[in-house]
Amino acid sequence: MIKFLNCKIDISKGVFQPRIETEFWTKKAIEEIQNKTIGLSRRLKILDIFSGSGCIGIAVLKNVKNSFVDFVDFDRRAIEQIKANLELNGISDHYQIIRSNLFEKLKGRRYDFILANPPYVAQSRIFEVQESVLEEDPHLALFGGKDGMKYIRIFLEKVAGYLKKEGIFYLEFDPNQKQEIEEICHSQNLSVRFYQDQFSKWRFLRAHKAKQTCQNAQMPNVLKRNSKSEFRNNDQN
Ligand SMILES: C[S@@+](CC[C@H](N)C(=O)[O-])C[C@H]1O[C@@H](n2cnc3c(N)ncnc32)[C@H](O)[C@@H]1O
Repeated sequence: MIKFLNCKIDISKGVFQPRIETEFWTKKAIEEIQNKTIGLSRRLKILDIFSGSGCIGIAVLKNVKNSFVDFVDFDRRAIEQIKANLELNGISDHYQIIRSNLFEKLKGRRYDFILANPPYVAQSRIFEVQESVLEEDPHLALFGGKDGMKYIRIFLEKVAGYLKKEGIFYLEFDPNQKQEIEEICHSQNLSVRFYQDQFSKWRFLRAHKAKQTCQNAQMPNVLKRNSKSEFRNNDQN
C-alpha cells in the first residue's frame, strides 16, 4: 500500500507505482481546483487520463467536494485497480471509469481540468532505467515510443478539443522533452508554463487554450508560492 497525498493506493493488480514527483504537482493542481470551486454552484468536471492506479483522480475526489472525475486508462488491470482504490478510499460516487485509448471514447466531453501523467520514458534510453523499475512497472505505463513523446504528441494535438472554454490542463513529462513540448504547444495555440519538481527538474506544465482567456490569464497563486503541504507526505522512497 502506498500513500499518495492523503489517499491509500493499492498497486497489487500490477499497475504503475505512483511517484513523489506526481504527488508534488497533483497537490498544486488540487489547490487550484479547490480555489476554482469557491463560489461555484456547479460540480467541476475533471479528467484523470492515463490514470493507472487512479491516484490523481482519487486525490481530487477526496479533496475537492464539488468535483466529478472521469478516469481513463487502456490497461484492463488499471480499470480494476481504480475500482478497488475508489472503494479503499470510501468513494462511491461522482466518477466514471472508462477504458479508452487516449481520448477515443471521450467524444463530446469537455473538462474544467485535465490531469495527465502519460508514459514518457524513451525506449531508446531503456538502459538507463533501473532493473527494479523494469520488473515492477508495466512497460505500457513506462514507455512512450522511441523518444518517449508518442503519447505526449497525440495528447497535445487533441487536448484542446476536450477542454471547456476556460479549461486548464496539467501534464507531466521528462525534463529532456521540455523544448519539443514547448514547440508543440505553440503550434497547437496552447498557452503554457513549465514548472520544476521538488528536485529542481523540469517536470510538469500547466496550460490552456491560447485564445481569449490566455492574454489575461495569470499564474495561479498555488504555483507562485512554495506552499507547505496540507497533505501528509508520501513515505515511500
Ligand atoms: C505513467 S502511468 C501513470 C499512472 C498514474 N496516473 C500515476 O501518475 O501514477 C501511465 C498510464 O497510462 C496508461 N496508458 C498507456 N497507454 C495508454 C493509452 N493509449 N490510452 C490510455 N492510457 C494509456 C498505462 O496503462 C498507465 O496506467
